[in-house]
Amino acid sequence: MSSTLWHGRFEGGPSEALQALNDSLPFDRRMFREDIAGSRAHVGMLCDVGLLTDAERHGVVAALDTVEQEIENETFEFAVNDEDIHTAVERRVTELEPAGAKMHTGRSRNDQVATDVRLWTRGAIDEVSQLIVRLQRTLLACAEAAGDAYLPGYTHLQQAQPVALSHHLLAHGWALARDLDRLADARRRVDISVLGAGALAGSSLPLDPEKTAEYLGIAGVFENSLDGVSDRDFVAETLFALALLGVHLSRVGEELILWASSEFAFVELDDGFSTGSSMMPQKKNPDIAELARGKAGRLIGHLTGFLTTLKGLPLTYNKDMQEDKEPLFDAVDTVRLTLLALDGMISTIHFRTERMAEAASSPYAAATDLAEWLVANGMPFRQAHAVVGEKVRKALAGEGSLSDLVAADDQLGPEAAALLEPGVSVTRRTTRGGGSPAAVADQIIRFRARLDG
Ligand code: ARG
Repeated sequence: MSSTLWHGRFEGGPSEALQALNDSLPFDRRMFREDIAGSRAHVGMLCDVGLLTDAERHGVVAALDTVEQEIENETFEFAVNDEDIHTAVERRVTELEPAGAKMHTGRSRNDQVATDVRLWTRGAIDEVSQLIVRLQRTLLACAEAAGDAYLPGYTHLQQAQPVALSHHLLAHGWALARDLDRLADARRRVDISVLGAGALAGSSLPLDPEKTAEYLGIAGVFENSLDGVSDRDFVAETLFALALLGVHLSRVGEELILWASSEFAFVELDDGFSTGSSMMPQKKNPDIAELARGKAGRLIGHLTGFLTTLKGLPLTYNKDMQEDKEPLFDAVDTVRLTLLALDGMISTIHFRTERMAEAASSPYAAATDLAEWLVANGMPFRQAHAVVGEKVRKALAGEGSLSDLVAADDQLGPEAAALLEPGVSVTRRTTRGGGSPAAVADQIIRFRARLDG
């Protein structure tokens, strides 16, 4: 008969209700590789410090290898009392190898689970980071293919100043670069081994936590056992980095939704990345973009939910902390799917650059350039703003086209009026990081360097 890990102290077995609430196996089994890696490192260290013989170490490691194979091949039989992945692995190892009973020497599930989750998170950060880079490369490829194409730039969702399409696409690329930085920074604090902290207070046995970390390929070791077993900052930080990434993706999604509308008509979506309507035959819907927008809510929810779980917890381990895994796993799964789908959507999109240019061709969009032209010719900016503002007001009142009014003005004249021709003003903002195709050429070099660096 299988029994609980604490059967020695108890007369009765666990109730069904307790098991159903308490068991984390349904969701933590996906950390089996990390759990097994942790155990391999731990028994290696136990052997080094003389708590396990070489033969025992080999026996336990071989059993761990078998268990890993069994779980991978789905031939592993989980038992009713396998409360979590740690219990399941240890139970099976001990069935296969009597020295398995020594595997938990100087270890608690508290330092074990903290280390497992850290290892899992480190792998997830690496995977998500690669997917972010993939989307950045797609944005870069689109930016390069966009050439001199331009569209209206917006503030308040009102047309502001024309900008190169490449400039607009790369704006999202830079936001993703900060997401990558944040994940890399969080990774430094994730990459810490807690094995050797025991349940909370370390051990009376001659453990060597640094050795365990070295065997695990983890960069750092906990400094304080109480903090080690109760620290879930790294989960919260990762959730934050993923939530902000989700917010960025939601903004990309929102723009694609707007751009795909017949009102904007700036893009045509590929059939493979759009959906139809069950009733309206003419519809082509940007569901991926809408889900990219919608998933951000779920990611923010995971962050706020988990911070609320942690808030006010006394040191050290509390079972509340078992609630770290589901939001973390779901956030990573959600971000993975969203990044992949958005990448597919963007890499197959058709940019309707003639429509964009048409939308950006209003002479009013060049009003700031007119004022700057006056400034370049010696006029204080406030005065220039008023001069151009007056022409705009007259044009809107029907006193003539903006172009004619500008051409006829003493201070402005035909040279200034030429700035109002479609496609001219966008070329003028050549400052570093500015929106002209020429300035973007430099930006592309820096963006690529960042990606390759
Ligand atoms: N399943 C538990 C978790 O995820 C493992 C740690 C259990 N520790 C304990 N003291 N009951 O947090």
